[in-house]
Amino acid sequence: MKHTIGVILVIVVGTLLAWAGLGSGFDSLLLPRAAEEAAYVDRLLGMHFYVIAFLFILIMGFMLYSAFAFKRKAGDKGDGEFVHGNTTLEIVWTIVPLGTVLYFSVLGAQYLNDITAPEPNEFVVQVIASQWNWRFDYPEYGISSAELYLPVDRQILFELTALDTLHSFWVPEFRIKQDAVPGAVNTLRITPNVLGDFTLRCAEICGKDHAYMLAEVHVLSQANFDQWVADLLGPSDEETALVERGRTLAEVNGCFKCHSIDGSVLDGPTWLGLYGEGVQLEDGSVVVAEDDYIRNSILNPQDQIVAGFTDVSMPATFGRVLTDEDIAAIEAFIESLAVEHDE
Ligand code: CUA
Repeated sequence: MKHTIGVILVIVVGTLLAWAGLGSGFDSLLLPRAAEEAAYVDRLLGMHFYVIAFLFILIMGFMLYSAFAFKRKAGDKGDGEFVHGNTTLEIVWTIVPLGTVLYFSVLGAQYLNDITAPEPNEFVVQVIASQWNWRFDYPEYGISSAELYLPVDRQILFELTALDTLHSFWVPEFRIKQDAVPGAVNTLRITPNVLGDFTLRCAEICGKDHAYMLAEVHVLSQANFDQWVADLLGPSDEETALVERGRTLAEVNGCFKCHSIDGSVLDGPTWLGLYGEGVQLEDGSVVVAEDDYIRNSILNPQDQIVAGFTDVSMPATFGRVLTDEDIAAIEAFIESLAVEHDE
């Protein structure tokens, strides 16, 4: 009886101390929340921590109490008292965990149902992941972006897919995430409710630059978001519009990750002063960089490899996301980077 009271005391006091610690500091260990869905996730996570803290103290309390209270006396060589079963205890340690797990599964199902429920005015953003780039399409406006712009307090329906391998869409401040899978479209609903800048990360190992597969996320007021859309829909003069479209397409498809436009050498040749010049290929031949060559390099990147650029091979997936008009726009953009020759 003395020991029963003793161990219960240790467990109750230990649990209350642990809970006091969680109550004062748990939320500060997490990144701030920036979406409605995040509150559900944090509530569930917090409740689990309280239960886990109790379990930890329960097990450690029994162990430590026993280690001190039932320590073998000097010279005692006998065996411990033999104990056979305890029906009450066995019923309790079956029913209580079963009830706890059932409670959490019902609660989890409810939350999942709430989080994934569509709202009437949801806004669609298509996300195309590839090695190692995020592209965001806004079908309502016919625009694309390399950074994710979102209106605040409006449910966003993300339609996620990938071109090459598995990636995963994750903004830690939004808490929830979803895989982007080649050949499939996965959906994810998020309602950002805090203005600000965040970072999207890839949360699925996807190759060499997985850790750097980031994109900036901007949550704007509806008015600022509309302004951003208007700016992108942009210039009216046809030639400028084509070049600008080419620049945007190159940006959103990740071209600039490997091809600079300032002359610096990255994994691929720079585009600065490329158009109209002779290019030395790996097989020794020389080709003039005009529309046909650029088009072939986009669609069949392994066909005409530039001398000195065999380390990293360019993805052969661009033919699946770029139309003929898109390629013409990118060619116009590259042509705008040509060096002037006085003749
Ligand atoms: Cu994409 Cu990791």
